[in-house]
Amino acid sequence: GHVLVLAGGLSYEREVSIRSGRRVAEALRSAGVDVEIRDTDATLVPAVLSDPPDVAFVTLHGGAGEDGAIRSVLELLGVPYVGATPDACRVAYDKPTAKAVVRSWGLNTPDSVALPKETFHDLGAAAVLGRIVDRLGLPLFVKPSRGGSALGASIVRTAEELPAAMVGCFAYGDTTLIEKYVEGVEVSVSVVDLGDGPVALPPVEIVADGGVYDYAARYTAGRTEFFAPARLTQEATEACAAMAVAAHAALGLRDLSRTDIIVDETGRPYFLEVNVAPGMTETSLLPMAVEAGGRDLGALCTSLLEVAVR
Ligand code: DAL
Ligand code: MG
Repeated sequence: GHVLVLAGGLSYEREVSIRSGRRVAEALRSAGVDVEIRDTDATLVPAVLSDPPDVAFVTLHGGAGEDGAIRSVLELLGVPYVGATPDACRVAYDKPTAKAVVRSWGLNTPDSVALPKETFHDLGAAAVLGRIVDRLGLPLFVKPSRGGSALGASIVRTAEELPAAMVGCFAYGDTTLIEKYVEGVEVSVSVVDLGDGPVALPPVEIVADGGVYDYAARYTAGRTEFFAPARLTQEATEACAAMAVAAHAALGLRDLSRTDIIVDETGRPYFLEVNVAPGMTETSLLPMAVEAGGRDLGALCTSLLEVAVR
């Protein structure tokens, strides 16, 4: 048997996923694992039927890779996989839904409004704009409800910038999440569960060149400075770790996840989102956290595969 690494796919994060898949495949090969890496299209089904893998590692980002669809296909084919179930992915990948769930468990998350494209068009930009700015104030952070890698996301500092920001989001999906922008330190906390319950890895702090952690800042080496562990007080570090573990549990996730957080000037963390297929590229956060925690990525991925087939 072999391990199947699923990468590529048809989402806007295809290129990122190819890089994640390569990195995971290399790490697994270095750990002595027999790996097949496969672009994820309709040939997946006949390929799995003719040469079934023992287990799959999903490094697909965005779209079907994170909304549960590909995992449903794996379940249909009887292939165990690392990571959350289709149902849990569906909830976690939709940012407004994930925020509502974690808030119901008492986690702090910025106030927000989810705005479907139809509503925006029906009510008209001016009316929508007025209501949202009245309710949330400024600045705002605008992003696609179901997206990743900061594609379509932007900060809105004046009311005049809001319509263009929303149109930018609608290019990536049918619903926009408009969130109160929280000024602070951006950190990301990876969570792994090797069968003994979810454990937080050291938080990674993100300091993007120019202040905006956009697509280019994420995937161009040298564009962003990372601190692992983050330069937070012990108290804030613990609060972030607790938040990531609580989000993982509240959303019913499995094996691994990564929660993105803003820590305001008082040290209070705000949940932004959780990633069910965290980036694994050379500049991605989970591999940095693994290294900062004194672990080897190949060894960790191998352990995750072992847990998945149990
Ligand atoms: N969506 C990208 C891959 C990430 O969260 O790392
Ligand atoms: Mg994300």
